[in-house]
Amino acid sequence: MSFSILGTGSAVPEYVLTNEQLTTMVDTSDEWITSRTGIKRRHIMTTESMTELTVKAAKLALEDANVAADELDLIICATMRGDYITPSQACVIQKELGAHCPAFDVNGACSGFIYALDVADGFFARKRVKKALVVGFDNLSAMTDWTDRNTCVLFGDGGGALVLGEGDGLKTINVEAFGNTDLIYAPRGESTSPMNKREMGRPVLHMNGAEVYKFAVSSMVRLIDRAITDAGLTQDDIDLVIPHQANYRIIKSAEEKLHIDKSKYVCNIAEYGNTSAGCLPIAIDEVNRTGRVKRGDNIVLCAFGSGLTTGVCVIRWDK
Ligand code: ACO
Repeated sequence: MSFSILGTGSAVPEYVLTNEQLTTMVDTSDEWITSRTGIKRRHIMTTESMTELTVKAAKLALEDANVAADELDLIICATMRGDYITPSQACVIQKELGAHCPAFDVNGACSGFIYALDVADGFFARKRVKKALVVGFDNLSAMTDWTDRNTCVLFGDGGGALVLGEGDGLKTINVEAFGNTDLIYAPRGESTSPMNKREMGRPVLHMNGAEVYKFAVSSMVRLIDRAITDAGLTQDDIDLVIPHQANYRIIKSAEEKLHIDKSKYVCNIAEYGNTSAGCLPIAIDEVNRTGRVKRGDNIVLCAFGSGLTTGVCVIRWDK
């Protein structure tokens, strides 16, 4: 016994930062950002907290699933950092929803949402839960160096949530990590300890874009191909591919190498940029609410990110 998806929700901040606006902040152009990444706009948190936005996404998912908060047996939030160092963002969401169940965060960077789904799968397999809420949300604007044109044009804030129930929608899931602290990293920042003598580094994202790009393309193709086989399906059986939204060229490159019709790839990067653990649940909510996904469809989710981590799964849409 594993899970099926019962409901979806998402939330992004109201403030929109366009490529044109970015040209007043760093030496860049709409033409460069659009042609190199596919990004046109990103939503950035100004007055909203992660608590407000994650709870909004969670409530929408519960409503869509027709599940009450007190029916939840588990809450997992995939994020690199919540509103608090402690408690976890999942516990904050639990408090706001009035739920009574175990709650904790998972940090798998951009692959975090698939890591969280894999953990939830374990709870279902052990028959410990009947209903679970899995949230994926990141606030990358708070850890971006806004003077670095190599990174600041790429990221946005936002995320979403899924309500899961017992079922056999999940066909296969796999996560990986390749311990690496050079290609994408953000130091923790200052220590409050008067005894600390160690330089902690600025808590902003550093990235070797070209190397991550190569890792991303080769991982996506390998992971999607293997997951489809593991699910006992062929590429023809896949109805939607929802990849991590880091760069539309990475998605295009995977499209070229796989044999899945190009119309089946979901790409909303133009509107949101890379929201890390938020990318997949935002896109899942979008295909649900626009009717792009139909009952019985086989969906592939695939992500890669800091860690270096990867995650992939195949889910049949049972809603
Ligand atoms: N505007 C204008 N020029 C720029 C900008 C910008 N915003 N950023 C970089 N450039 C310049 C560079 O300085 C370089 O100039 P030079 O040739 O004079 O040195 C030139 O553009 C080309 O730079 P490249 O790095 O080669 O550009 P590339 O085509 O590789 O695109 C990018 C860079 C978009 C970062 C790409 O490498 C990429 O998408 N990498 C993967 C990122 C990713 O997937 N991250 C996911 C993980 S993030 C996470 O986990 C939170």
